[in-house]
Amino acid sequence: SERAHFVVVANRLPVDRVVADDGTVDWNTSPGGLVTALEPVMRREGGAWVGWHGAPDEEVQPFTHDGYAIVPVPLSSSEFEEYYEGFSNATLWPLFHDTVAFPEFHREWWDAYLIVNRRFAEAAAEVAAEGATVWVQDYQLQLVPRLLRELRPDLKIGFFLHIPFPPVELFLQLPWRRQILEGLLGADLVGFQVAGAASNFLRLVRLRTEHKVERHHVQVGDHVCRAKSYPISIDTEGFRELAESPAAIAEAEALLSDLGHPKVVLLGVDRLDYTKGLRQRIRAVGELFAEGRLDPAEVVFMQVATPSRERVEEYRRLRDDIDLLVGRINSEFGGVGRPPIVYRHAGFPRQTMAAMYRIADVALVTPLRDGMNLVAKEYVACHPGLDGALVLSEFAGAARELKQAYLVNPYDINGMKDVVMRAVEDPPEERRKRMRALQKQVGTHTIDAWADNFLGDLKHYAR
Ligand code: G6P
Repeated sequence: SERAHFVVVANRLPVDRVVADDGTVDWNTSPGGLVTALEPVMRREGGAWVGWHGAPDEEVQPFTHDGYAIVPVPLSSSEFEEYYEGFSNATLWPLFHDTVAFPEFHREWWDAYLIVNRRFAEAAAEVAAEGATVWVQDYQLQLVPRLLRELRPDLKIGFFLHIPFPPVELFLQLPWRRQILEGLLGADLVGFQVAGAASNFLRLVRLRTEHKVERHHVQVGDHVCRAKSYPISIDTEGFRELAESPAAIAEAEALLSDLGHPKVVLLGVDRLDYTKGLRQRIRAVGELFAEGRLDPAEVVFMQVATPSRERVEEYRRLRDDIDLLVGRINSEFGGVGRPPIVYRHAGFPRQTMAAMYRIADVALVTPLRDGMNLVAKEYVACHPGLDGALVLSEFAGAARELKQAYLVNPYDINGMKDVVMRAVEDPPEERRKRMRALQKQVGTHTIDAWADNFLGDLKHYAR
C-alpha cells in the first residue's frame, strides 16, 4: 500500500461513525477546527490520520476519506478504561490542570498507557513514507515521539500539547515523570499553547534529565528537540461567515423569541468538565440574581454543557452538582415558565452555536485552568459588528492574547460578580473599544497560521 508523507497521530480520528437505519456504516468529518485546518495539508501532501475510532473492542480496516488515509487504532474495553478514562483523563488531565481535581495514580493504568502509546507509534511507523513528517497530538500520546523515533529515525517528528503543561512541583508528583519527559524529547519540535508551558517543560528537562539545554534547544543523543509556544486558534473567517449567514440569523431570532426576548443574554459554552469553573460561574450569577443586581425577569443566563467522559467519577459528580445548583437558582428566581438559567446538557451543531454566540450580550468563559479555550475566540469571531463583551479567566491560555477582554480570577466570586456587572453595564463605546482589539487579534491569528507556523518550524528544524 502507498505510504504517507504527512501523518497526524491523535487519540481521536477526524471522522465520526454514523450508522444509518438500514445498518450501513458511514463516516462524517468531525466539526473541529484542527481537522478543518489539517485536511488541506493532508490532501496536498498525501496524508494519513492515525487515531482511535471510538468503539472499544472493534476492529476497523483503514480506508480513504476526503482524499487521505484513515488508519484506525483499536482499543479493547479494558484499554479504554485504563488508558483513556484512567491514565489520560483521571491522572494526566487533572494533574496537568493544576490538580483542580485530585489526580489518581495507578500502576495498571500506566501499563495500559505504555501499551497503547506503543500501538499508536507502530501504526504511524508503518504508514509513514521515508523522511515523512509526523505530527503527534496531545496528552494521551506523550510517549509516541520517542517510541516512533526508535522505530523510524528518518522521520521528522512534531508534538503539540493542547492542554496546559503543569508547574514543575506538580509534574514531579507523577511516578512516571522521567518516561513522559523522555517520551516528549523524542520529537524534533514540541509545541505548547503558551510560553510559560514551554518554560515549565524546559525547566524540568534541565532539573531531571542529563540532556544539555540551551535556551529552547535540548540535545538528546544525536538529535535536537526544540520547545516553543504556538497558541492555537480557530477558523475565524468561517465562524464570522456562519454567524452572518441567513440561516444562523434566523436561528438566532427563533432562539431569542424562545427565551422571551430578554434584555440581556449571558452565555456559557463548555464541555462539562471540572476545569471549566462552572460551579463558581453559576454561583456568581445566582448571587447576582439573589442580590437584585441582575433582574431575573430581564436577564437570561444560557449555559450549554456538552457531555464528556461521562463514566469518569469526577465528571458524574460535577453533572449532579450543576443540576442541583441550576435547579435551586431557577426554583428560587424563576417567574412562571421563565427560568433565569437555561441549562442544556447537550452538544449542538456549529450553526446553532453561531446563533447563540450572536445573541449573547456577554460571554462567560471562566475556566479554573485551560490550555487555550477556543470558545472565547469563537465568540469574538461571531461579533464583527463589535457588539458583545467577553468575560475571560486569567487562567485560560487565551488570556495571554485576548488582553482586552474583561479578565477575571474565577476563584474570586465577588471579583467575578463585579466584572460581570461591568461587562453588562459598561457604556457601548467601552465595550466596542475592547471588542475591536479582540477582533483584531482573532482576525490575524487563525488556525491556518498556527498549523503553518508549527509545520514550517518543524521542517526547518528537523534536518
Ligand atoms: C480536549 C483535549 C482533546 C480532546 C477533547 C475532547 O480538548 O485537549 O485532546 O479530544 O478535549 O475530549 P475527549 O476525551 O472526548 O476526546
